[in-house]
Amino acid sequence: MQDHRIYCGQLGLADRGQEVCLAGWVDALRDHGEVLFIHLRDRSGIVQVVFSPDSSPLEVCQNARQLRNEFCITISGHVIKRAEGTENPHLETGEIEVVADTLAIYSDADTLPFPISEKAMIAGTSMKKLESVSEDLRLQYRYLDLRRPSMQRNFIKRHQIFKCIRDFLDEQGFIEIETPILTKSTPEGARDYLVPSRLHERRFYALPQSPQLFKQLLMVSGFERYFQLARCFRDEDLRPNRQPEFTQLDIEASFIDEEFIYELLEELTVRMFRVGHIELPRPFPRMTHTEAIDTTGSDRPDLRFGLRFIEATDIFGQTSYGIFKQVLERGGRIKGITIKGQSDRLSKNVLQNEYAKEIVPSFGAKGMTWMRVAGEELESNIVQFFSETEKQAIIERFGAQSGDVIIMIADPSYEVVTSVLGLLRIHLAHRLELIAPGLYCPVWITDFPLFEAADEGITSSHHPFTAPDHINFDPADRDQLLSLRSRAYDLVVNGEELGGGSIRINSKQVQNKIFQALNLTETDIKDKFGFFLHAFDYGIPPHGGLALGMDRVVAMILGTDSIREVIAFPKNRSAFCPLTQAPSGVSRDQLAEIGLLDPGNDKRISGIQKEGDLIDTLSWVSRIALGDDEKKIVAQAVKTAQKMAKNVSAIQMDDDPLFSVMQVSNRMRRVSEAKRHPVAQRGEIFKNAPAVKGDFFKVASILE
Ligand code: AMO
Repeated sequence: MQDHRIYCGQLGLADRGQEVCLAGWVDALRDHGEVLFIHLRDRSGIVQVVFSPDSSPLEVCQNARQLRNEFCITISGHVIKRAEGTENPHLETGEIEVVADTLAIYSDADTLPFPISEKAMIAGTSMKKLESVSEDLRLQYRYLDLRRPSMQRNFIKRHQIFKCIRDFLDEQGFIEIETPILTKSTPEGARDYLVPSRLHERRFYALPQSPQLFKQLLMVSGFERYFQLARCFRDEDLRPNRQPEFTQLDIEASFIDEEFIYELLEELTVRMFRVGHIELPRPFPRMTHTEAIDTTGSDRPDLRFGLRFIEATDIFGQTSYGIFKQVLERGGRIKGITIKGQSDRLSKNVLQNEYAKEIVPSFGAKGMTWMRVAGEELESNIVQFFSETEKQAIIERFGAQSGDVIIMIADPSYEVVTSVLGLLRIHLAHRLELIAPGLYCPVWITDFPLFEAADEGITSSHHPFTAPDHINFDPADRDQLLSLRSRAYDLVVNGEELGGGSIRINSKQVQNKIFQALNLTETDIKDKFGFFLHAFDYGIPPHGGLALGMDRVVAMILGTDSIREVIAFPKNRSAFCPLTQAPSGVSRDQLAEIGLLDPGNDKRISGIQKEGDLIDTLSWVSRIALGDDEKKIVAQAVKTAQKMAKNVSAIQMDDDPLFSVMQVSNRMRRVSEAKRHPVAQRGEIFKNAPAVKGDFFKVASILE
C-alpha cells in the first residue's frame, strides 16, 4: 500500500481522475444520512473523502459508519472536482475530493481530551479555539497536541531552521562535534542537575549547563571551527522563556575576533529568519551596555519603538521643587521620556492615579513626575514649583510639542531611575500600541561589565572564561574589578536575548587572576578547573564563540507565545512533565544501588544524620539548603501546617466528601453535585483573605 501512497495535502485539480491511496487520521466527519464526508489528515494536510452509495461499494459505506474522530485509517479512491459551490477555500485541497473505493481501519480512538481538528469542514464556519484547554492537559496528552496541524508546522519549521544552520555552518567550514552529557559542573550561573554514579559511590556527574569548557578544549585540539546543537540543563527559577532543559546552537572558532562573530552570526540569523519569511535589516546595530542602560534601562533593549531616555538631572541643579532637590542632594539622578502626541490617551487621571500612584510604585520607585504639553504650556500637578527657566529647559530638552506627554523619574539610585523608567517604557509602548506588528529589531550589546557586585564579593557577568578588556588589573581591588569591561556580546532581538558569547581568555595567568578575583581558593581552582587550566600549557590558540538559545530563536521566528510551543515535550511552568510525571520517585533498591540509602538504617537517606529530622529531609528533597536560623523558622511553619492539616481532616464531611467554596457541578461524577460547604456559605472562609470579590479571593495577576 505504502508504495502508492500519496500525501493528502499534495492533491489538487491536476490529480482529477487519478486513483490514489491515502493514509492518516480522521480529522472531522459530516454525516449527510446516506453520504458521509470525512476530512482525512496526514502530515502534509487535509483532503475530503466521500463515502456515497452512488459511487463507493456498499460495504465500504457501511464500514465507514463506525468512523470517529482520530481513527487511523487508509483508503483508496479516485479524485474528483468538487461540485460548484461546495469548494472549501480554507483547505489547500479544497477544490477536489476523493471518492472512497476501499477503507481499512488501522486503529480506533477513544473520546479525545480536547479537539485536534483545526479546519472547519464547511467554508465560512469556524473551529473552536483551543485556548480554553489548560496547558497541563495539552502536555499530558502531548502526543495528541502535537497532532494538531499548527503544532506539526512548528516542528517542521524548527527542523528547517536547524537544517539551515547545519548547511550554512558546513559551508563556512564548521564541523559538528558532540560533547558529553554526563560531565562536571560548568559555571553558567544556575544550579546543576546532578546524576549519581553507581560505579563511583557517592560521586556525581553534572549535566552540562552548556558545553563551554569542552568547546574551548576543542579549540586547544585544533578543530578551529566547531558547532553543536547542544542540549543544556539548568536548574534555575523558571520564567516564560526558560526551560530546565533547552537547546543551544553552540559555536566556537580559533584565530578570530569579535568582527568574525558578528559577521558570521548576522548572516546566519538573517538566513534563519528567512525560513519564517522575515527579512532582517543588516548590518545589525551595536550598542554598548552603558548606552543600553542609559537610554532604555535594559541590557536587552527593545528597539521597535522610541521612548529613549532623556537626561534631565542638570536642568534642576538650582531647583526649589522639594522632591527633586532632595534627590539631587543625595547624589541622585533625574531622567525622563517624551511620549509624542499621546496626551489624549494619557489623561491627568491616568497619569496621576494609575501611573504615579499604582504602576510606578509597583515597579519600585516612590513616584513619577508627569507633564502634559498644551500649546506652549506645561500642565501638571507640580509645574507651579518649576521656574520659568526650568520649564523652558524641559521643553527644549524633551523636544516637547503640544499634545506630548513628558514623564520623569527622580531617585537617589541611578539603578532605580533606569530600571523603573525601562519598565515604564515597555508598559507605555504596549498600552499605546507603539510597536508595529511584523517589525524585528536586532542589536548587538557589547562592552558588558566583566564582573557584577554580589552579596558576597563579585560574580562574573557572563562566565569566568570571558576575556577582560585589559589584563593589568589587581584581582584583590574590588572597585577596579567592578570597573573592568569584557569582550562579551549578546544578540538581542525585540527585547529578547537570543544569544551571547565572548572572546575567551587564552592565558593561564589571566585565567588564574580571574579565578582569584572570584575568590576561588587554589584548591577550588584545582578541583573544579584543573583539567581545563592544564590544557592552557599545550599551545592554546586565541579563540571565541557564542551560543544562541534555539528554542527562543524558533519561537521568535514562528511568533509563538512561549518556547514550550516549539519544544516537543517541554516541562510545565513548575519544571514538571505532566506526560511522564517526571520527576518521580524511585525505588529504595535503586537508591541503595547508587549508595543514596544508608544500608544501616534503610529508612533514611544517607547524609542525614539526626533521627526523625523532618526539616533536613524536606530540605534534601526540595534541594533548598537551610541555615540553622532558617531551619527553626521552617520547623515552626511545618508545625503550623501540620496542625492545620489535622483540623481540616477533622472537619465532618456530609455523605459526599466533595465540597467547594462555590456552587459547582461535578462533571466527572454525574450522580453527585458538589456541595457548597457551610463555612464557605457563611463567608467565614474568606475571613482572612487579603481581598475578596464576591465568592472569590482576589490575587495578584501573573504575567506570561
Ligand atoms: P548563556 O548562558 O548566555 O551563554 O546562554 C546562551 C543562550 O541560551 C539561552 N538560554 C536559555 N534558553 C531556554 N531556557 C533556559 N533556561 C536558557 N538559559 C539560557 C538564551 C541565552 O542567550 N556558554 C555560554 C555561551 C558562550 O559564551 O559561548 C552560554 O551558555 O537565549
